[in-house]
Amino acid sequence: MILQLKDIRISFTNAQNESFDLLRGVNLDVEKGKITALVGGNGTGKTTLFNIISGFEKNYTGEVVFEGNDFNRIPAHRISLMGIGRLFQDGQLMGGLTLMENMKLASDDTTGEMPFSSLLFPKKWKKAELQKELQVREVLTRIFGQDNKYLNMLDKDASEFSYGEQRILSLARLLMGGDRLLLLDEPTSGVNPMYIEIIEQIIREMKEQEGLTVLLIEHNMHFVRKVADVCAYLDEGIIAKVGPTAEVLDDKNVRNSYLGL
Ligand SMILES: Nc1ncnc2c1ncn2[C@@H]1O[C@H](COP(=O)(O)OP(=O)(O)O)[C@@H](O)[C@H]1O
Ligand SMILES: [Mg+2]
Repeated sequence: MILQLKDIRISFTNAQNESFDLLRGVNLDVEKGKITALVGGNGTGKTTLFNIISGFEKNYTGEVVFEGNDFNRIPAHRISLMGIGRLFQDGQLMGGLTLMENMKLASDDTTGEMPFSSLLFPKKWKKAELQKELQVREVLTRIFGQDNKYLNMLDKDASEFSYGEQRILSLARLLMGGDRLLLLDEPTSGVNPMYIEIIEQIIREMKEQEGLTVLLIEHNMHFVRKVADVCAYLDEGIIAKVGPTAEVLDDKNVRNSYLGL
């Protein structure tokens, strides 16, 4: 198991100032090297669970264990350096920065922790920058093929790309970071069918070529059936069912309560 969630509980206060228990004892083992889909109705706490795993949300009880390390004792800003990458719900590239700058933002070096390193060690810094630029080209080639158009668009401002393109480029960017687990929050939402197919390919490649583990939140059940090895169904604060994707999606109770069939 690369990631284990043990009895995760969290409560929030709603607009009426009433407390409600959102997660009521989530238990989930995420298998290394597989694609796991986390499904469940709107507002059931899927994104909150991602926030807990990646350290943005600290007011929970229970345990998050990643590669044997207990994450409850690790400060949030360090978790992203520990091998977990994330695609945010509706997340896009950063406008005002070029595609190249966006791609470089993701790499896992820690020079950002030392803001004056470029002044102190200009040669070393320059070399590292060139290395990163090479890596950007290499990742884009791996994902989109030789001579793909993005290699010639690295100086374009990120906001000039369509939403679908920004989603696929954000996914490609996740391969820059040396991560071992990727959390993808609704990768296909708002994206047109042509890009959904590319997203499917990229996620497959993440698993098959890169050996990564992927945990993804997804509402497109057709997509889930195609890419996910394992499916976990979140309902009323717990993982109500988990198993091979077809088994979970064909389950009578899941069909009734979630799919409304
Ligand atoms: N920090 C917070 N304070 C209060 N309520 C929150 C907070 N974070 C999430 N919620 C609430 O928890 C519920 C679940 O949200 P979310 O995890 O985004 O659901 P999902 O991703 O499954 O649609 C929502 O009703 C949301 O408003
Ligand atoms: Mg969500």
